[in-house]
Amino acid sequence: MAPDALLVEVAWEVCNQVGGIYTVIRSKVPATVQGWDDRYCLLGPYFPHQAQGEFEPFDEHQLSTLNDPFAGAVRKMRSYGYDVQLGVWLVTGRPRVVLINPFQVYDRLNNIKSDLWHNHGIPTPEGDDLLHQVEAFGHLAKIFIQTLTGEVVPPQRVVAHFHEWMTGVAIPELRRDQVPAHLVFTTHATLLGRYLAMNDPNFYDHLMQVSWLPEAQHFNIETAVRIERAAAHGSHVFTTVSELTVRECIYLLDRIPDAVLPNGLNIERFVALHEFQNLHQQYKSKIHEFVMAHFFQTYSFDLDNTLYMFTSGRYEYHNKGFDLTLEALARLNYRIQQNNVDGQVVMFFITKRPFSSINPGVLQNRAVLDEVRETCEAIERQVGERLFYAAAASSEHRLPDLSSMVDDYWKLRYRRTLQSWKTHILPPVITHNLYDDQNDDILNFLRRANMVNNQHDRVKIVYHPDFVSPSSPLFGMEYGQFVRGCHLGIFPSYYEPWGYTPLECVARGVPAITSDLSGFGDYVMQTVPEHEDKGIFVVQRQEKSFDEAAEELTNMLWDFVLQNRRERITQRNKVESSADLFDWKNLRVHYDRAYALALERI
Ligand code: G6P
Ligand code: GLC
Repeated sequence: MAPDALLVEVAWEVCNQVGGIYTVIRSKVPATVQGWDDRYCLLGPYFPHQAQGEFEPFDEHQLSTLNDPFAGAVRKMRSYGYDVQLGVWLVTGRPRVVLINPFQVYDRLNNIKSDLWHNHGIPTPEGDDLLHQVEAFGHLAKIFIQTLTGEVVPPQRVVAHFHEWMTGVAIPELRRDQVPAHLVFTTHATLLGRYLAMNDPNFYDHLMQVSWLPEAQHFNIETAVRIERAAAHGSHVFTTVSELTVRECIYLLDRIPDAVLPNGLNIERFVALHEFQNLHQQYKSKIHEFVMAHFFQTYSFDLDNTLYMFTSGRYEYHNKGFDLTLEALARLNYRIQQNNVDGQVVMFFITKRPFSSINPGVLQNRAVLDEVRETCEAIERQVGERLFYAAAASSEHRLPDLSSMVDDYWKLRYRRTLQSWKTHILPPVITHNLYDDQNDDILNFLRRANMVNNQHDRVKIVYHPDFVSPSSPLFGMEYGQFVRGCHLGIFPSYYEPWGYTPLECVARGVPAITSDLSGFGDYVMQTVPEHEDKGIFVVQRQEKSFDEAAEELTNMLWDFVLQNRRERITQRNKVESSADLFDWKNLRVHYDRAYALALERI
């Protein structure tokens, strides 16, 4: 790090969680603050509802006493009449943040749009609210960076690092006005890449021949794509998150990235290994409760011999590899039956789809199970007390008849509760009522494959079309706790610039499957020797047919199922120990190199 430089990191998701970039920025804070200290500041759009609870603004007095260029720039912008906030982001590392409300310049939107058009050939259609917010914020971000460069005393310099096109829109204007800031732009995916991958089954073969403009027009994303290109070309240093996205940048944005900045996490390790193993057991019991409520009213199975697998992420059926996962699960289901292997697999699909409500039957089962538990606990208390008394008072050494110690009331209630509990209806594969149940790809696959939680199915399915959260009545746990309670995460994506989900498993000591078409998987193949031994499996999808990839994935799942408990525990220990490789403490260096390069260029 250059001691005479300030760093401003600009992202749409500062204090505003939308997707993966939030994870990048937020998890990196402690490592960045460690290197840059009070020469570091984040910049993002101010959305009061989102920022609430994450952002603590400085009051007038604090702001007026702060003696540094960031506060100076905020004061100056305020004196021009802008609504700008300086404060602290209430996350680990507590970095300084500047938040700017984009709506304050909506009265000037027409000028901002016409400048983008005349100066940079970026047209903006009427009525697109996201584009309006992005362009308004870009305009304000540019003013902030410009003001900041006026506040620093040479040789002090400013590095401004913009993430994704939504903030990158400031870059062409900063260049045009020759603002003396060193500009870094990172794209976390190309817009066109994502759209094409979703719509073209041979995306990777066609990538080299794509004409960006007609395609952008075809998908109705011309403005955003032009912004992305302008940011990529206007930055002093252009970067992306993986080698896979490098290819996209070359063919779709026409600039070779100067560097790849792989994503990390802020890895928090326990002092002793058994601590995270205990957590696995603890959260697995919570998943057991869900599974009992969901399945046991129809049939039961041995929970101690049940494996929990899951996938999660945005609902992109093809891009996230849900299609491949389902195919492999169907093959696994068949193989387990044919080979008479003991045990069950319960597979969870955690994603987000529009639904009208939780399936009332599923909720009802959950409630009845809670009643079963209360009844059992009441009986346990009653028997416990009476047995203790009987034991102390007795002259015999034989165990008395325990059943006689339960009041009739509880016996009856026990019977009644269980009667209302058992049914013959198969446990539903989906927990919620979707608006569009008929056209849902996951459901249609399950119907075609007849994987509908028949008793003989050895792979059972729970499709939960909502994120797991502590307030959810079905799981009532945090996503991270759910991950810990599972045995294996499955993420064989077809298109994934980076992909945090498998890394989030690894960080919690849970083995994970990724693919060579995900930035993370590609990075693992290149940098982590013997990664299979560390519980990170990479399905080969490049130049492989769907069928071949499905077979490879099935084999991975099969090998996993055949492991015994001891082997699983050892594997989890190895996974957990490898997590350090992805700690920002080790990966921040890529960012610092990009900044050093930016400081050399101008
Ligand atoms: C952790 C716990 C053990 C438990 C094991 C179950 O390691 O510390 O007490 O036996 O998890 O592992 P499994 O892979 O069967 O869920
Ligand atoms: C984008 C990518 C995703 C990546 C994230 C963070 O959302 O689609 O793969 O993990 O950015 O870089």
